Amino acid sequence: MKILSLSSFLVIITVFAIQEACHGGPLTQGPLTQDYYKDSCANVEDIVRNVTWKYVAQDLTLAAPLLRLHFHDCFVRGCDASVLINSTPNNTAEKDAPPDLTLGGFNIIDDIKAEVEKTCPGIVSCADIVALAARDSVSFQYKRLLWEVPLGRRDGTISLASEVIANIPAPTSNFSQLKQNFACKGLDILDLIVLSGAHTIGDSHCHSFDNRLYNFTGKGYGQDPTLNSSYANYLKTKCKNLSDNTTTVPMDPTSSLSFDTHYYKILLENEGLFQSDAALLTDQGSLEEVKKLLSFEYFLEKFAYSMKKMGEIQVLTGFEGQIRKNCSVVN
Ligand code: HEM
Ligand SMILES: *[C@@H]1O[C@H](CO)[C@@H](O)[C@H](O)[C@H]1NC(C)=O
Ligand SMILES: *[C@@H]1O[C@H](CO)[C@@H](O)[C@H](O)[C@H]1NC(C)=O
Ligand SMILES: *[C@@H]1O[C@H](CO)[C@@H](O)[C@H](O)[C@H]1NC(C)=O
Ligand SMILES: *[C@@H]1O[C@H](CO)[C@@H](O)[C@H](O)[C@H]1NC(C)=O
Ligand SMILES: *[C@@H]1O[C@H](CO)[C@@H](O)[C@H](O)[C@H]1NC(C)=O
Ligand SMILES: *[C@@H]1O[C@H](CO)[C@@H](O)[C@H](O)[C@H]1NC(C)=O
Ligand SMILES: *[C@@H]1O[C@H](CO)[C@@H](O)[C@H](O)[C@H]1NC(C)=O
Ligand SMILES: *[C@@H]1O[C@H](CO)[C@@H](O)[C@H](O)[C@H]1NC(C)=O
Repeated sequence: MKILSLSSFLVIITVFAIQEACHGGPLTQGPLTQDYYKDSCANVEDIVRNVTWKYVAQDLTLAAPLLRLHFHDCFVRGCDASVLINSTPNNTAEKDAPPDLTLGGFNIIDDIKAEVEKTCPGIVSCADIVALAARDSVSFQYKRLLWEVPLGRRDGTISLASEVIANIPAPTSNFSQLKQNFACKGLDILDLIVLSGAHTIGDSHCHSFDNRLYNFTGKGYGQDPTLNSSYANYLKTKCKNLSDNTTTVPMDPTSSLSFDTHYYKILLENEGLFQSDAALLTDQGSLEEVKKLLSFEYFLEKFAYSMKKMGEIQVLTGFEGQIRKNCSVVN
């Protein structure tokens, strides 16, 4: 009895200690359910999948921005579609904060929402659409749905640019910073390592990593010694100097349209693009996990589990929030 209360005391202290250093509210997770729209909008999953697959079939590069959009939504104020809200004269919204300026897929979400509204007006949240579109866009390659998306999220009414930097991890983060950032969202080290595998698809702008090529000392020169030097030479041919703000490079060259485990393969060759990727090799336990994730079956199982967890971060449910009519504007 004494031991039990001591351990619960320690749990409370730990949770409190984590919360202390976190930005953005309590770690509540509402109950989402698989069949949330069973009676109110039974076709919603088919509608979202059909529209998403129509886009991705035309342009395979669209999967990456939709996946990233869900991540950026969930890490700021929970998965409440706050990332979709437009700025107004009175308010600078999340999407206008630097880490979100390179997000995409907004037009696809709007199109899905319009299609869903035709069948079930005012029923389905934009937050659920973002979660479904992330899953469906990645799944197109396999023509089967790769993970389950419990539903019932409600849309938030607040979106603040000022909350983005503190909550979205920086590409310059080291392992302990990443661990702390994810812990703030109720995610653990395994979630961090597995979800970083999302970088197996998509592109990055030079300015997200060019300090590793030209300014690692912070004094305007120097290269990151942990970055594979032949890979660094290749990257320098793409990103010619620190003022390049427009060029993008694939994060997993040769396989950037394929959702696979190639990210972990190049990571082990010291070709992870960001310091945050390379950081996964700096912890012994994490390094061992990276090796295990080379197995696609294992990766898929873990990714499905961690995406479900990420999709439940601080969700609004029941009578909280609202069902937005227009995903970019609060009702
Ligand atoms: C672990 C911490 C993470 C950091 C530091 C990070 C950082 C970044 C950065 C800097 C970019 C490139 C942005 C640009 O310059 O255009 C990027 C792209 C991307 N990230 Fe992450 N990310 C992280 C985790 C995640 C997670 C958890 C997911 C999804 C589950 C994700 C999905 C993506 C995708 C798909 C892209 C490519 C987007 C595109 O091609 O448009 N990332 N990330
Ligand atoms: C989705 O697309 C399939 C195949 O084209 C079609 O049979 C089905 O009716 C569509 N469902 C909805 C709800 O749009
Ligand atoms: C913006 O602020 C002005 C003045 O404070 C107020 O009159 C107006 O209703 C606000 N607009 C919105 C959209 O909140
Ligand atoms: C990670 O970065 C933080 C902030 O720059 C620093 O205080 C800490 O010492 C770093 N941790 C490691 C293990 O390098
Ligand atoms: C190099 O990095 C430092 C530290 O991050 C930064 O203050 C400085 O502006 C950078 N130099 C250039 C030329 O971008
Ligand atoms: C950076 O590289 C671009 C492309 O090669 C070039 O046009 C530009 O003049 C360079 N800027 C600086 C400051 O060297
Ligand atoms: C380049 O992009 C960064 C980040 O988006 C921004 O802070 C900076 O002002 C831009 N610089 C120029 C010259 O456009
Ligand atoms: C650098 O990458 C190449 C493949 O591109 C690989 O053969 C080599 O082992 C890597 N070097 C290091 C130090 O990881
Ligand atoms: C949603 O709101 C935005 C911003 O006010 C507007 O430009 C767009 O046309 C609206 N979309 C619909 C379908 O009403």
